Amino acid sequence: MSQNPIYIFDTTLRDGEQVPGCKLNTKEKVELALALEDLGVDIIEAGFPISSPGDFASVEAVSKVIKNAIVCGLTRAVEKDIDVAANALKYAVRPRIHTGIGSSDIHIKHKFNTTREDILVRAAKATKYARNLVGDVEFFAEDAGRADNGFLARLIETVIAAGATVVNIPDTTGYCLPHQYGEKIAYLVNNVPNIDKAIISCHCHNDLGLATANSIAGAIAGARQIECTINGIGERAGNTSLEEVVMVIKQHEKSLGLYTNVKTQKLNPVSMLVSDTMRMPVQPNKAIVGGNAFSHSSGIHQDGFLKEAITYEIINPEEVGAGGSKIVLTARSGRSALAHRFHKLGYEFTRNDIDVLYQQFLQVADKKKEVEDADLLLLAKAYSPVE
Ligand code: KIV
Ligand code: ZN
Repeated sequence: MSQNPIYIFDTTLRDGEQVPGCKLNTKEKVELALALEDLGVDIIEAGFPISSPGDFASVEAVSKVIKNAIVCGLTRAVEKDIDVAANALKYAVRPRIHTGIGSSDIHIKHKFNTTREDILVRAAKATKYARNLVGDVEFFAEDAGRADNGFLARLIETVIAAGATVVNIPDTTGYCLPHQYGEKIAYLVNNVPNIDKAIISCHCHNDLGLATANSIAGAIAGARQIECTINGIGERAGNTSLEEVVMVIKQHEKSLGLYTNVKTQKLNPVSMLVSDTMRMPVQPNKAIVGGNAFSHSSGIHQDGFLKEAITYEIINPEEVGAGGSKIVLTARSGRSALAHRFHKLGYEFTRNDIDVLYQQFLQVADKKKEVEDADLLLLAKAYSPVE
């Protein structure tokens, strides 16, 4: 099967930064943008330039330092927004304007109090206007996840005719099931006559915990760009997590026929940088970058892992820059993990010794969340070997 690229569009600095408490100043945005470029993302959405003078300055500063990635600025489908974004992006080597409007009847009625026909006119106008200012224009059909597919196809056909180079199909409210989102992308591939003139992009939110699955379903159906954030941060339950989609694609590269340009060894360092800069902790059980992503604590798993890591790890932690695997000792741990830890601490006990020590270990473990090396040293020192 031939390999197709999936372009990684990082929106940590725009959709991710919208999270309460995560606002970034210009210096922080520049530092993170450089780290994202170093990670190998293809597009950096640096901000929403008209939203505040500070964000304008940030998009401008990011545009000046980024040399390889495309730098993108968000706008509404409004000429003033587009002018301001083009101005903020004027130093970018590869500028992109990301403009768009609501596409579901819910948004058309309640947000815009207008008609589908008027949305088509506004979308075409904004896209043409942006294309006169930059050569790369991405159009977002907001709330496409809940939009009527027939209307969505007309909208996408219209904006491609108006000059859109990328068409973004956001599941803004994280509503779709993976097969529904995949079918939506397939519908566009099969029903928009000029679809091959643009790249289709997935932009999924995580309200039902399906953002990664939906993005992958979109890519399987023909999308070639995925919009995502480091650690999956973003409005409400967040956006598609960059590290998850990148590693899904890497793990299943052959069967999917897809690849990304991300340097996966940098995933954990960048995750930590984003978490520290935004003061937004990563949940311990988060895939790929969570503190427990490579920890083993139950006896059955530890025994298998110690015999051969592949029994319980599908990813080598070094491949994602995670340091190493951890064996955590708890009351659910078994004898092999205990013997292994004693060995690391410099004690070689016989099987009979371990049987006795294991009972003592359980007494300690039942009273604690995790047994520390200091606890084991006390047990080892107090222990008289079985004769
Ligand atoms: O979720 C969404 O629809 C968005 C658009 C502005 C692209 O973030
Ligand atoms: Zn979004």
